[in-house]
Amino acid sequence: MIEAIKQNIKNQLEQHFQIEGVVVEEPKKGPADLAIPLFAFAKLWKVSPMEVYHRFLAVLKNDKSIDNIEFTNGFFNIYLNRGPLAKKILESIHEQKDHYGDQTLGDGLTVAMDYSSPNIAKSFGVGHLRSTVIGNALKNIYKKMGYQVVSINHLGDWGTQFGKMIVAYQKWGNEEDVKKNPIAEMQKLYVRFHDEEKVNPDLEQDARDVFRALEQNDETYTKLWTWFKEESMREFLDLYDLLGVEFDYYTGESFYNDKMVAVVDELEAKSLLKVDDGATIVDLGEDLPPALIKRSDGATLYMTRDIAALLYRHKTYHTNHVLYVVGNEQILHFKQLQAITNLMGYHFNVDHINFGLVLIDGKKMSTRGGKFKRLEEVIIEAIKEAQEAISLKNPNLKDQDMIAKAVGIGAIIFNDLKNEKHSDIDFNLANMLKFEGQTGPYLQYSSVRIASILRENALDMNNINTEYFSEDDYFEIIKQLGQFPYIVAKAQENNAPNLIARYIILLAQGFNSFYGKQRINVEDTLHKNANLLFIESIQTVINEGLRLLGIKSLSEM
Ligand code: ARG
Repeated sequence: MIEAIKQNIKNQLEQHFQIEGVVVEEPKKGPADLAIPLFAFAKLWKVSPMEVYHRFLAVLKNDKSIDNIEFTNGFFNIYLNRGPLAKKILESIHEQKDHYGDQTLGDGLTVAMDYSSPNIAKSFGVGHLRSTVIGNALKNIYKKMGYQVVSINHLGDWGTQFGKMIVAYQKWGNEEDVKKNPIAEMQKLYVRFHDEEKVNPDLEQDARDVFRALEQNDETYTKLWTWFKEESMREFLDLYDLLGVEFDYYTGESFYNDKMVAVVDELEAKSLLKVDDGATIVDLGEDLPPALIKRSDGATLYMTRDIAALLYRHKTYHTNHVLYVVGNEQILHFKQLQAITNLMGYHFNVDHINFGLVLIDGKKMSTRGGKFKRLEEVIIEAIKEAQEAISLKNPNLKDQDMIAKAVGIGAIIFNDLKNEKHSDIDFNLANMLKFEGQTGPYLQYSSVRIASILRENALDMNNINTEYFSEDDYFEIIKQLGQFPYIVAKAQENNAPNLIARYIILLAQGFNSFYGKQRINVEDTLHKNANLLFIESIQTVINEGLRLLGIKSLSEM
């Protein structure tokens, strides 16, 4: 709503004077609600800033959203007509509830989102966790902006590594061990393959032959592969369940096996293929290294499957826009994918959302290599620690398991999303589980404080003295509440969930300092209802912000 007022002021001035570049900002310091810097126009018109002020004043003096105007230090300062604005903001939050901030920008548009995408027979890495958390938040944010989102888990379930897995299993594996501890055991076999390969180079060829046969639907190998996949999927699905994320499709790389010939044919027909040292490639010119499409033994590659996937998504979901939430190490891959589809004559938007590393004590965290625990164990530990903290704070609380889960997982998700996605994140359970500072538990706790006040005091919308809303303590926060739709739009535009994370932290801080200063449950009913409407609105927006990030809000903890 403030955005609308700012836009309206800007439009009035720009249209009246036939100028461009009027900036209406919210000053960080000083008492004014809005300010317009005047120097640029003083220069343009070769007059003093004071003169510009008077010219602007003549245009804006009858604007109903403005209460008062003054000139200070080259700025046109605006004091808004706070009462009506505040009332409008709070009433619309009260009416729209969790739909407050819903927008129509994306109406009629579909975006496909490719995220999480772990590799079968390997552990779910911390990079996959980041991709899952960021992708899930982006899905929620895009949906709030009106987009239709198709969420896809592009499982790494195809490729020569499955030839290796099968060879290793047939030589050294047994069913019982894999059943007991699927991913760990498969990973062991994979590592063993690489060790043995050093002394027995023939193994490499065996693995290629097996994968070739698998690509041709060999029965025995297909059976084994299916089993490996099922065992891995069970672990992955447990993890998704814990995190509360869902996908529309689990169409992994293997899904495109029967669509590969068509891709190669199309590239051939468009004269884009070259044979280089037996391998089939697409030359991408000076700026990018060539992309490998088929190996000399005819096996297809990660890239080939990504081209097939993109064509399939375009055809099936009627979209040109695919978001790939994948770490920095694949920047080149997605540049190549974009370049190839350009050469094929398509106008696809290969939108690579890349992100930084996860650090523990400043060092790269990896769930591989055996140095760290399995991700699921880390998450369960977070839940356990949350449980301990909660039972200390509130031993009689019901539903402690559900609450501990929401707090533990919320802590991990918030820790990931509070920073700009390109920066590396620090993974420290003790820090992220704190009830103060920039944490998930802090946000959940702030919302719970409001919930408990609202449980004890019923809000009566017909008995409110809205005059309080013009007071600074209230109005600062109400202005912020009015910004929520704009923050959501910015977060979508920049694929930046951290904007929402930072925004709700500020809001919660605002509430907590208000609560430290002001009594909510005052004698005067009209004042009390004003307070209740005010805090209810804060709760609604914090909870909706948390939901967008993929974090559960609570009413008790
Ligand atoms: N499975 C891949 C990996 O773990 C990520 C896949 C990303 N999506 C894609 N369409 N390439 O590195």
